[in-house]
Amino acid sequence: MASLLPKQVKIVEVGPRDGLQNEATLISADDKISLIEQLANAGVSYIESGSFVSPKWVPQMATSTDVFNGLKRQQGVTYAALTPNLKGYEGAVAVNADEVAIFGAASESFSQKNINCSIDESLERFIPVIEAAKKQGLKVRGYVSCVVGCPYEGDIEPKQVAKVAKQLFDMGCYEISLGDTIGVGTPDSVQKMLTAVSKEVPMAKLAVHFHDTYGQALTNIYAALNLGVSVIDSAVAGLGGCPYAKGASGNVATEDVVYLLNGLGIEHGINFNKLLEAGWFIADKLGKAPISKVSNAIRAKQ
Ligand code: HMG
Ligand code: MG
Repeated sequence: MASLLPKQVKIVEVGPRDGLQNEATLISADDKISLIEQLANAGVSYIESGSFVSPKWVPQMATSTDVFNGLKRQQGVTYAALTPNLKGYEGAVAVNADEVAIFGAASESFSQKNINCSIDESLERFIPVIEAAKKQGLKVRGYVSCVVGCPYEGDIEPKQVAKVAKQLFDMGCYEISLGDTIGVGTPDSVQKMLTAVSKEVPMAKLAVHFHDTYGQALTNIYAALNLGVSVIDSAVAGLGGCPYAKGASGNVATEDVVYLLNGLGIEHGINFNKLLEAGWFIADKLGKAPISKVSNAIRAKQ
């Protein structure tokens, strides 16, 4: 397959949201703010900074209002929020989130466990969010979870992913992030999935969102880059997991992605040393080492 490696990649940092949402240790709003500010100082230009979901479902995100209100924002940085419904959207607007993200799934069972409704019902719920966002001029990003496999249903057909991605794109999402929520993909399954989705949504509008559960995330990112994907979701210190995907481990570490991109000579705009510092900061708060081979290798040398 001919390589389409991009010259430049946008990193969507999801650590403060996707990363922390599954951590049992509650992190204070002040520490989340410090993490987000450190990431912005490191040159990260897009930071998913919290979510407006039910605090009963995801207690770690209950402080999202305080986090957004306490942030010293930097120009040129997008501070985004995850919103499952109109109530969540209103929460995000109240704190001046720059963008919102809605999240659907390619698997019926996962949709039920994650947001308590079917895929079709979830799309219905997103319509008022998108309409409100359009009126207010806010951009909406769309996620599709379980794009390769589902913890309840096993393998997911690429055409099912393409269908949901197209629905979200047609509704008005400007970018579709394809989540291998349980990290089971390999370059072959990922490329088949991306090829199917890109028949419905242009590759330039797709992002990839890998969890590293089976150690395949970087390989899969390389496979996606070779197909022309140029937006990568990742979490500093490899934070994460998903509360509704048993066994799902962390998102691919931003440190590991940046190291890969540096090696490939692909621009990303992030200061590596400052990024490492941000990862060590939050890992210390959680009382554990970063889940990033690169970060740990560099720390071991110091
Ligand atoms: P529900 O129980 O079906 O909703 O939950 P409901 O409308 O019947 O409301 C029930 C209660 O929740 C009510 O409160 C509502 O007010 C409240 P009560 O009367 O019982 O006190 N409520 C809310 N509270 C705060 N914010 C809201 C909100 N909406 C309703 N926005 C709901 C439906 C979606 C709310 C629930 O299922 C939920 O919050 N789920 C959490 C989902 C979540 O955050 N999952 C993790 C993120 S997705 C992910 O990580 C995957 C991704 O990273 C991609 C990948 O990795 O693949 C994106
Ligand atoms: Mg995720």
